[in-house]
Amino acid sequence: MTDLSHPAPRFSASDAEGLAKDFFDVTGTATPLDGERDRNYRLETGVDAGWILKIVNASEPRVESEFQTALLDHLAVHGAHLGVPHLRASVTGDYLPSVASSTGEKHAVRLVSWLAGTPLAKARRSLALMRNFGQALGELDRALQGFMHPGAVRDLDWDLRHAARSRSRLHCIKDPDRRAVAERFIARFEQTVQPKLASLRAQVIHNDANDWNILVDAETPRSVTGFIDFGDAVHTVLIAEVAIASAYAILDMDDPIGAAAALVAGFHEKYPLQAQELDVLFNLIAMRLVISVTFSASRRDQTDDNPYLAISEAPAWRLLEQLDSMNPRLATGILRKACGFDAIEGAGEVRRWIADNHKSFADLVRPSAAILDKVIAPFGDASHEMTIASAQQRPADATRWWNECSAAHKAPLGIGPWGEVRAVYTDSAFESRFIKGQHRTLHVGVDLLMPAGTPLYAPIAGTVRSVEVEPDPLGYGGLVMLEHTPPGCPPFLTLWGHMAHEALSRLQAGDKLEAGDLVGYMGSDHENGGWIPHLHLQLVTDTQLRACEVIGVGEPAYREAWADLFPDASALAGIPPETYSQQGMTKAQIIARRKELLLPNLSISYTDPIKFVRGDGVWLIDNFGRAYLDCFNNVCHLGHSHPDVVEALTRQAALLNTNTRYLHDNIVEYAERLTGTLPKGLCVASFGCSGSEANSLMLRMARNYTGSDQAIVLDWAYHGTTQELIDLSPYKYKRKAGKGRAAHVYEAVVPDSYYAPEHWPVEAHGKRFAESVAEQLDAMRKAGKRPGFFIAESIPSVAGQVFLPEHYLEEVYAMVRAEGGLCLADEVQVGFGRVGSHWWAFETQGVVPDAVSMGKPIGNGHPMSAVVTTREVADAFNNGMEYFNTFAGNPVSCAVGLAVLDAIERDQLKENALNVGHYLLEGLRKLQQQFDVIGDVRGLGLFLGIVLVTDRQSKAPATALARKVADGARERGVLIGTEGPHDNVLKMRPSMIFSRTNADFLLEVLKDSFIAALK
Ligand SMILES: Cc1ncc(COP(=O)(O)O)c(C=O)c1O
Repeated sequence: MTDLSHPAPRFSASDAEGLAKDFFDVTGTATPLDGERDRNYRLETGVDAGWILKIVNASEPRVESEFQTALLDHLAVHGAHLGVPHLRASVTGDYLPSVASSTGEKHAVRLVSWLAGTPLAKARRSLALMRNFGQALGELDRALQGFMHPGAVRDLDWDLRHAARSRSRLHCIKDPDRRAVAERFIARFEQTVQPKLASLRAQVIHNDANDWNILVDAETPRSVTGFIDFGDAVHTVLIAEVAIASAYAILDMDDPIGAAAALVAGFHEKYPLQAQELDVLFNLIAMRLVISVTFSASRRDQTDDNPYLAISEAPAWRLLEQLDSMNPRLATGILRKACGFDAIEGAGEVRRWIADNHKSFADLVRPSAAILDKVIAPFGDASHEMTIASAQQRPADATRWWNECSAAHKAPLGIGPWGEVRAVYTDSAFESRFIKGQHRTLHVGVDLLMPAGTPLYAPIAGTVRSVEVEPDPLGYGGLVMLEHTPPGCPPFLTLWGHMAHEALSRLQAGDKLEAGDLVGYMGSDHENGGWIPHLHLQLVTDTQLRACEVIGVGEPAYREAWADLFPDASALAGIPPETYSQQGMTKAQIIARRKELLLPNLSISYTDPIKFVRGDGVWLIDNFGRAYLDCFNNVCHLGHSHPDVVEALTRQAALLNTNTRYLHDNIVEYAERLTGTLPKGLCVASFGCSGSEANSLMLRMARNYTGSDQAIVLDWAYHGTTQELIDLSPYKYKRKAGKGRAAHVYEAVVPDSYYAPEHWPVEAHGKRFAESVAEQLDAMRKAGKRPGFFIAESIPSVAGQVFLPEHYLEEVYAMVRAEGGLCLADEVQVGFGRVGSHWWAFETQGVVPDAVSMGKPIGNGHPMSAVVTTREVADAFNNGMEYFNTFAGNPVSCAVGLAVLDAIERDQLKENALNVGHYLLEGLRKLQQQFDVIGDVRGLGLFLGIVLVTDRQSKAPATALARKVADGARERGVLIGTEGPHDNVLKMRPSMIFSRTNADFLLEVLKDSFIAALK
């Protein structure tokens, strides 16, 4: 081991000049250089950059001198581009000749080239330079990778692996506070770092990249040009190199961790570091300083005449004290993030798990934040009166302003976004511990502003970690921390700030909370740190942090690290991302452009139209991040944006989309699956792109088969948008701009039992209503015509969700067929299991039509349709004229159709429709008992209607009320429609994945909307 007390060799400048000449044939003027153990001279020759002559301390084992020589030799080969000193061989070809001193001691002598440049210690440092320094250091160590020499295995106190030896010098630090600082770092080193060192990568490193050993290109430098003094090189943990370099480079910088992060990122770029190396870096940086200050203290007597030892003591203490004030876990997060790692292991997984599972979370506030109208609270606007009142701790004024704003916008929920930069945090408690002279301003929780006393529920199960009161003004007040350990996700924490103190008496550490359990209440300003009532909800991915260590606002410079350690809790709180930024045109702009560019007949729902930007299962999300429960749109049969459908569509679209003139598996597979859902005789499929196309094709087949175009339709029916279908749709031809009934069309009454004459026995309704069809057949006969077909929806929809009375279709089909007509079922609205009990609604009537048309739900939003008919009708249609429909039945559409059928079967959606539909019907019937205006409740599966009347006796339609209730439901976050000849039927057709929870919400909203509409 090197004897540090052994004095440096005694050789004068002229001795040095003589040695240079004799050994190396170099003539120059020698000037002494600083050195702790060796004697070093600079030699200026006037002909080249000059040299350094090193006369090595006699106590230094020869193997160590040989090691340094070998190291420089290695670098000359493997790091020729690096700025490192080059060895000069002696005249006898030796890199390390020996010389005897006057006392007879033998010293090794080495001559290396002088490197020009400014020491980093004298240069102005910038983050860019730190990064460049890191890169250069990374390259140096990369060049040293694999280099080994017996002299590299040496015992050095300055080797960070032995940093705990500083403990033996601790007593030399006189100032007890400073001693405590050093002691804390040593203890942390012993407990958390030392045990890990053996598993970290080791190699030969420079080991003393302090700011005097680093050369840069100028005083205002842009790059590191050289490394000098390899005297401390050793085989040790690689990360020590970065730690040592950082410890000196960041001295007296305003943002030392930011500077270290730049350095380490540069190093990582050239020589990738491992996460576990970065985990010990913060402590190792501090420990390098601890080694230095403890040595200084222990050698206080000598330092007066050896300024080298004390040179960085004062700044070292300043930095150590600053590092001591930092949370090491947060600092480590910053360093990890700088190298592209998650700031804490598992942060990404937690974020992904939340994104993947948020749909199953319980509502944190009730009703869910998703369906509430929301406004962004103005905490980000420093000049706003609410923000000023908050900063000045006048919560009552802030609350008054907020209450008025919330009422004016009809927005019950205020949101303080994650990532907002807020000038409101002026108190000294918010001073940055990382960056001198800066305040922490970046909000890393999500605020929910609601009245004090608002109950708050756990979105997922958790265990109470802590419940406490943070009493400082503008602190958290009531503070709850929960730990969550969901399967398949690393554990994480949630922090609930500004809570009512009530939680303290109800909860204690270790208590288990289920999803949906009460966590606490929003605190008033007397108990929440003096704020406007709100919840500060924060996600914490570092489960080692205690509630008091979690920062609620961070430095904007470390946004990315905070995003890992404290990810945005919006999804946990049920706040859709659209809340925070509006994309595209405003509603007014779209309306104006529609007027300018589109057919004016397009109608828009609601007086205040909605701009939807996203669909998600049963929910539609508007451009302000408000979610609406979609109970109206039966096209999204499996729910909006169903992943299976999206996948099937994109997969096939990326592969091939052609037409039916080429062979493809999909069309036959789909036809087989589709016809498999139908009664036996319906076995031939054909495809279209819309319900109207399907109906048109079905009519062509019927006319072709029967040779007659005489049609019987039900009053108020709708079958499609082409002229021939409008002619068959009383709903169109009898209303505005309609041309009235065409001569070939015969109208039978709508068989709506609710309006049946009172004297008809219920069991006779089918038969009695069918008489109307008999009358039409009669009229046809009298006009000398015979029926081509009878067409009806299996549950007439626009006529007001009319459920046909028992035996009705049996009677009608028999009559029509008896006269040679075909019976056609329009299942465009009601097909694909919507009724729950069957795949097709006509099956509820015990009949089998001659052809059935399908549309809307068939592709879950993808435009496609189908007609399925009998072999006989199909063969007759094969009359020589080709049926070609460019898009119909293409591989993409058929892939989508298959995905829809798969999901219905796999997820048992028919059964779900039946069960939830039944549950809903029961709920609607309860509403009927409560509200006299509900004349009739009708439904099967998820096809439902509520008939509103002004009085139950006269059954006069309550049209205005129906509109009011539908509008009220929209205000409360639920979409339903109105229908029927008098627009007095509330119509509901939610998607087949509708749950009981969804049903409860719908029922609650309907109830509230009835109460409000009837006021
Ligand atoms: C019963 C019925 N048939 C046919 C159609 C026409 O379908 P599409 O609009 O896809 O052409 C509709 C559309 O609302 C319908 O409700």
